[in-house]
Amino acid sequence: MKILVTGGLGFIGSHTVVELQNEGYEVVIIDDCSNSSEDVLDGIVAITGKKPLFEKLDLKEKDKVVDFFKRHHDIEGVIHFAASKAVGESVEKPLLYYENNIGTLVYILNELSKKAQANFIFSSSCTVYGQADELPITENAPVKTAESPYGNTKQMGEEIIADTCKVTTGLQAISLRYFNPMGAHPSVEIGELPKGVPQNLVPFITQTGIGLRKELSVFGDDYPTPDGTCIRDYIHVVDLAKAHVVALQRLLNRANESNYEVYNLGTGKGSSVLEVINSFEKVSGNKLNYKIVDRRQGDVISAYADTTKANNILGWKAKSTLDEAMKSAWDWEQKIRN
Ligand code: WQD
Repeated sequence: MKILVTGGLGFIGSHTVVELQNEGYEVVIIDDCSNSSEDVLDGIVAITGKKPLFEKLDLKEKDKVVDFFKRHHDIEGVIHFAASKAVGESVEKPLLYYENNIGTLVYILNELSKKAQANFIFSSSCTVYGQADELPITENAPVKTAESPYGNTKQMGEEIIADTCKVTTGLQAISLRYFNPMGAHPSVEIGELPKGVPQNLVPFITQTGIGLRKELSVFGDDYPTPDGTCIRDYIHVVDLAKAHVVALQRLLNRANESNYEVYNLGTGKGSSVLEVINSFEKVSGNKLNYKIVDRRQGDVISAYADTTKANNILGWKAKSTLDEAMKSAWDWEQKIRN
C-alpha cells in the first residue's frame, strides 16, 4: 500500500517515514528541500534498509501536484507535513506562509477529492489553542485567535479540511495537534536539523551543550508557574511518528465515526524550561550555560495535553520520558557535530 508523505525529509516527516516502512507501507516522499536535505534519505535507509521513492517538488506549483497524483494514482493515504513553521518568520512574511501552507493544502485536497476513497492526515499544532483557559488541554478547548500567521495557517488548514470532508464523501481526514516535538531516532541516523539559529528550546540547549552556542537565553522567569518559567508538553518525535501510523490505520480501516477527527498528541505532562535544562544537565553530565532574559512575545504561560482521546480511541500513548527524549536529542547533537 502506497502512502505519500509530504515534507518527508523534515524532522517529524522523516521519523514517520521510518515508522510507516516498519509497518510495511510503501512510501513516496515529496519535499522541496527548502528546510531539509536529501541526505536524510540515507539516514532512513540506514534504519530500515528500504529507500522510499522521493520527488523533489514544489507543492506551490499546481500543475506539478496534478501531474504527481496522475502518475501516483495508487496512493491510498497522504500524511501532509510540508509547511513553513517558523512562528517569528511568519509574522514578517505572512503571504509566504499563506501561500505555502494554505495554497499547497488546497491543491492536495483538490486531487484527493477526485478519488473514490482518500485518507488524509494533517500536521496541526497545539498552537491553535493559544493560552487555553483550562489545563490539561482537551480537543474541545476553544480555538483562539492565532498569535501568528503560522498559527493561523494551522487553524485555517483544519477548517478547510473539515469543510472539504463535509462535501466529499470518499474523503476521510484526521488533524493531529502536536505539542512540543523533541529528540531523535535512537539509531542517531535521523534527527532534528534546524537551519541557522534554532528557534526552539531543545535544539538550542543541545547546541549550547556542544559549544555551538555561547549560552541559552531563558525567555522570562516571572511567569505564574512553580519556577517562573513557561511550561510545555515535550513529546519524543518517535512517539509522535508512531501516532501518525496508528491514525492512518484508523482511516484505512474506515474505523472512524465521522470523516473528520482531531487528536492532541502530547505526553500529558508539563515541563518548565528550567526542568528541561535540568534534564539536559542530568543526561549529559554537563552544566548548561544559560541566562534569564525578558519574556518572548507571543509565548503562552503553560500548555500541556489531555491525551485521553488519543489513548482511548487511537489506542496510542507516548512512551518516552523527558529524560529519554533529551538523551536522544543529545546523542544526535553529538553525532552530527563530531
Ligand atoms: C518552548 C519554551 C520559550 C527558546 C513552537 C511553536 C509550535 C511548535 C513548537 C511548530 C517557551 C522557551 C525557547 C529559547 C527559551 N512549532 N525558550 N529560550 O514556542 O512552545 O512552540 O515550537 O509546530 O507551533 O509555537 O516552542 O521550543 O520555541 O519554546 O526560553 O531559546 O522554551 O519561551 O517557553 P513553543 P519553543
